[in-house]
Amino acid sequence: MSRVAVLKGGRSLERQVSLRSGARVQDALERLGHDVIGIDVGTDLVDRLAADRPDVAFVALHGRDGEDGTVQELLEVMGIPYTGSGVSACIRAADKVLAKHAMRDQGIPTPDFYAFNETAFQALGAAQALPAIESRLEFPIVVKPAGQGSALGIKFARTAADVPAALVAAFSYDRKVLLERHVPGRDLAVSILADGGRATSLPIVEAVPQQEDFYDFEARYEIGRTKFVCPAQLDQAVAARASAIALESYELLGCAGFARVDLMLERDDEALFVLEVNTVPGLTETSLLPQAAEAAGISFDQLIARILGAIGD
Ligand SMILES: Nc1ncnc2c1ncn2[C@@H]1O[C@H](COP(=O)(O)OP(=O)(O)O)[C@@H](O)[C@H]1O
Ligand SMILES: [Mg+2]
Repeated sequence: MSRVAVLKGGRSLERQVSLRSGARVQDALERLGHDVIGIDVGTDLVDRLAADRPDVAFVALHGRDGEDGTVQELLEVMGIPYTGSGVSACIRAADKVLAKHAMRDQGIPTPDFYAFNETAFQALGAAQALPAIESRLEFPIVVKPAGQGSALGIKFARTAADVPAALVAAFSYDRKVLLERHVPGRDLAVSILADGGRATSLPIVEAVPQQEDFYDFEARYEIGRTKFVCPAQLDQAVAARASAIALESYELLGCAGFARVDLMLERDDEALFVLEVNTVPGLTETSLLPQAAEAAGISFDQLIARILGAIGD
């Protein structure tokens, strides 16, 4: 038995999801016989950790602070071992621009993109380069903030007229945005779980939007608006390729413990493209990684035990 602090909530836009993930993790840890302390992460985080002195921390924070390496850095400073990826993997994965550059350099397929920070528009006239970008990427173009998650701030620009508003929306979430080639096709998620020091992939989940033309934030969390199919109905060769690419992305960024890799399978030629790697994927009742684990015969409690057991591997 260990004393486990579950870090949840926080100030990210995904606070509500994190509170649900955290509560579910706490219940599982209690069933596993641990002494559990739930911490809603705020300005008193360091004081709480110093006072509670947990043996380990379970990071159930999504998005800002919890997924970008900030909380991991504090835990390092305080000498408290924690679940999941370390500081450098979190920093690289949370920044889609950094992650995509790393993937492209490594030869891992990711949709073509161009990325700019605010100052490029304000001080260097980057807006004048938009027509060149638009002709290279072709419409529709996906405009997204470098950070965040849960499809927040992501817009599909169908024509050049949509681009300015899409950029403004993305810049309201981050100072860096990317314009990315739209990949028409199927939305796949490959969950990765450490297994005795080695990472393995779990059955693939396909997210099938029921109404929207795009898998958006609302659809994702409202039960019934997105249908999840697990294991996804895929050609065996395609599934094997998706799993291999996802594992390669996980290793490339230096992830640990668990992660979820989001990919697109292009409709016509079955090409696969990695969109992003989530270092603290959702752990709620409707989240994809727990569903994938379930399909592999791993119960939620077993999943949490595995993630906890992978610390320090
Ligand atoms: N380049 C793209 N082509 C097609 N769909 C995309 C593209 N980028 C994002 N999407 C859609 O938006 C969703 C969220 O994008 P993603 O890059 O995973 O960001 P988030 O961090 O918000 O999850 C994807 O699951 C997919 O449905
Ligand atoms: Mg995603």
